[in-house]
Amino acid sequence: MCGIIACVGADSTVPTLLNGLQNLEYRGYDSAGVAVENGSGLSVYKRAGSVSDVRDELSQMTDDGDVGIGHTRWSTHGPPTDVNAHPHTDEDDEVAVVHNGVIDNYQSLRAELEDRGVEFTSDTDTEVVPHLFSEHLEHCPDAETAFRRTVEALDGSYAIAAVVDGEEAVYAARNGTPLVVGVDDDSYYLASDVPAFLEYTQDVVFLEDEDVAVVRPGDVATLSVNGEPIDREVEHVDWDPQETGKGAYEHFMLKEIHTQPTALTQTLEGRLDVDEETVDLEGFPPGTFEGYDDVQFVACGTSYHAALYGSKLLDDVGIDSTAYRANEYDTSSSPASEDSLVVAVTQSGETADTLTAMRHAADAGATTAAVTNVVGSTAARNADHTLFIRAGPEIGVAATKTFTSQVVSLTLLSRRLAEDFPDAEPREDFDELAAALRQLPEDVETVLDGSEAARLADRYVNDEAFFFIGRNLGFPVAMEGALKFKEITYQHAEGFTSGRLKHGPLAMVTPSTPLFALVTGRHNEKTLTNAKEAKSRGAPIVLVTADPEEHDDLADEALRIPETHPALEGLLANVQLQLLSYHAADMLGRSIDKPRNLAKSVTVE
Ligand code: AGP
Ligand code: GLU
Repeated sequence: MCGIIACVGADSTVPTLLNGLQNLEYRGYDSAGVAVENGSGLSVYKRAGSVSDVRDELSQMTDDGDVGIGHTRWSTHGPPTDVNAHPHTDEDDEVAVVHNGVIDNYQSLRAELEDRGVEFTSDTDTEVVPHLFSEHLEHCPDAETAFRRTVEALDGSYAIAAVVDGEEAVYAARNGTPLVVGVDDDSYYLASDVPAFLEYTQDVVFLEDEDVAVVRPGDVATLSVNGEPIDREVEHVDWDPQETGKGAYEHFMLKEIHTQPTALTQTLEGRLDVDEETVDLEGFPPGTFEGYDDVQFVACGTSYHAALYGSKLLDDVGIDSTAYRANEYDTSSSPASEDSLVVAVTQSGETADTLTAMRHAADAGATTAAVTNVVGSTAARNADHTLFIRAGPEIGVAATKTFTSQVVSLTLLSRRLAEDFPDAEPREDFDELAAALRQLPEDVETVLDGSEAARLADRYVNDEAFFFIGRNLGFPVAMEGALKFKEITYQHAEGFTSGRLKHGPLAMVTPSTPLFALVTGRHNEKTLTNAKEAKSRGAPIVLVTADPEEHDDLADEALRIPETHPALEGLLANVQLQLLSYHAADMLGRSIDKPRNLAKSVTVE
């Protein structure tokens, strides 16, 4: 995920672009750049670093003009360097392009362009776009036709904005990632998100997938890729420009909870073929993991819970696997050997405990893999293999969308491992799991739209302690539910395996300790029995389940999830628990995005 901004006919283009980028910085912050058509050519300047870091330099180095584009990057292809920063240009600097998303077929397009003698300067998937656009400009009657031809050749997810030398226009296209046009009197804007230009206008045109737009001073034309005009209404948004950065959300955490459907779509993009029942993980071709005996996960906090989930998925396909807390891993003599695959799960890729565990594993001769959100992070650089979860930047200290994307990435990885490990038994129901994965973004949306979590938070927020129980895949979710709750509400919360409750914790159960039971996946009978034990001691029982009606006698309250494959129910339940924690913390007036004593990335042991 990244931020795109463009403007046409603004009072001063470069400052407008830089303001827009600053407002979008939450979307990506590893590099930034702008391109301006200044009447005598394109002035392009870009740098690695956050917008705040490079803002002054961009402002000094770019000539102003009447039309321009800008970008703040969250790398997916190629490390965050000056060269990989956007905008990207063709060889003659005739066009400049910014892009958000992933061009799935960039390798074949790049090979074809290179065969025709085009020289590439970056590692990005994006760079194929300016070169293609430039080729089409030579043969097409006008820039709009050339742009449409370019877009026609692209597969994948993209929001694109482009400028052409000598043209007072921005050419844009959207497919799978957001793009919105802001309409003022004579000045027009284009951005990934409305807050980018909210200080100038609240009148917007929301582009839809497969739309192409040509924005000129005082005019926006929307059309199909074939050139047929499409009518898109101008809408007025009622957002306060002060909310810039979090969109209409009060907190980044809430925004990140609500953007999980988009994050999941990005995680899955181009990686899952439901019809063929195959997964295609770039950098992990079939056979990558032949010859290992076991898988060991190392991770901390929320990422540990994702790792535990992943480990249980591997158990299901007969692969010997264990999830270790990274901060305890090097206290054992050496669980790893050269026959082990050690998978570090880390959102930031910078958690010191996890990096140490990776080194410990590598010293023992193990092969390491990183599952991370951050391109260019230490974990990604140090690991033998890396799988990016592509959740987009997460600003709130409490991890939400990255947990969901981690688990989905590990679900895909479990398929690849099951194909490669000699004694594994790939799932017979993978067709059903694949279909459920495809449906998952929509199912998360259903949870977000209908959740009763705010009401439950209001009912229980002032109670003494909060317990979360689950079995099998429900256990990591119970742990994660409790971690999120304590992290942002500062209330006492604990997660247990359902059966563990009666071996001690039950002594703490009272009418003032609500129990949240995960009735998800398979093996729920005993969880229901354990919940009954707590109910007999007076605890309010909240079931998180797809069938609340079946448990009316037991449940005081329920958080409903849509029906899905049993391996994914825990993920939907977790979204309910994220909302519960969020609303409880909000009612208590906590500092939700930056809870006391905590940092987003823990770089010390
Ligand atoms: C999660 O809400 C916490 N902020 C924390 O437990 C976090 O998951 C942990 O520090 C690991 O971080 P990482 O994923 O960046 O390695
Ligand atoms: N895939 C592009 C890149 O890696 C765009 C990433 C983004 O959305 O910022 O440069």
